[in-house]
Amino acid sequence: MKMISVFNNKGGVGKTTLAYHLAHILAEMGKKLLVLDLDSQCNMSLYGMKEEELESVWKGEDTVIDNGFDSAKQQMKECDFSNLFETTRSMHFILKSVEEGISDFPELPPPFEVTPNLHLIPGRLTLFMYENKIAQRWNGMFLGESLSIRTVTRWQSRMLNRKVMTLSLLTHPPVSEC
Ligand SMILES: Nc1ncnc2c1ncn2[C@@H]1O[C@H](COP(=O)(O)OP(=O)(O)OP(=O)(O)O)[C@@H](O)[C@H]1O
Ligand SMILES: [Mg+2]
Repeated sequence: MKMISVFNNKGGVGKTTLAYHLAHILAEMGKKLLVLDLDSQCNMSLYGMKEEELESVWKGEDTVIDNGFDSAKQQMKECDFSNLFETTRSMHFILKSVEEGISDFPELPPPFEVTPNLHLIPGRLTLFMYENKIAQRWNGMFLGESLSIRTVTRWQSRMLNRKVMTLSLLTHPPVSEC
């Protein structure tokens, strides 16, 4: 598994556009790709999915994002809750268990198929909630807090090991200027 990360600390310089074209070219060359949209602007997701498809992903998981897994499980019918894991979910949903500091779910939801070789885990506007937690735990990692260490090290390997992909491509938001 190789990972390509498109990063530049300036906004609007073509990171998402480059990632989008790279993904399609590599997929056409026969590589199996998983694109992770880590940008809450969700531009990459909108390149790969119809607006209604993205909205449907978000709508289906609102209860979990707003209230957390435990509360959502109590509020939702059992079948509705388990169905959440059968269709594509956003990056925020996938990272929600890490944000909450609870154990990961045994199976990850399937990514969205853009083309047979190109799959996408879409972004979500609420990803900032996860980013805030990560920022806190980053400091905690240096203090040796076990939850912080797990947060920083585990999610990536879990996501990337799920499917047999030869390549994953990450698109980032711009880094805010100091
Ligand atoms: N090679 C290019 N030539 C001309 N226009 C381009 C090129 N690459 C990107 N653009 C345009 O520049 C604008 C910004 O591109 P893009 O959204 O890819 O930047 P970004 O770095 O991802 O931005 P952000 O930091 O906001 O995420 C878009 O309107 C895009 O269509
Ligand atoms: Mg971008």
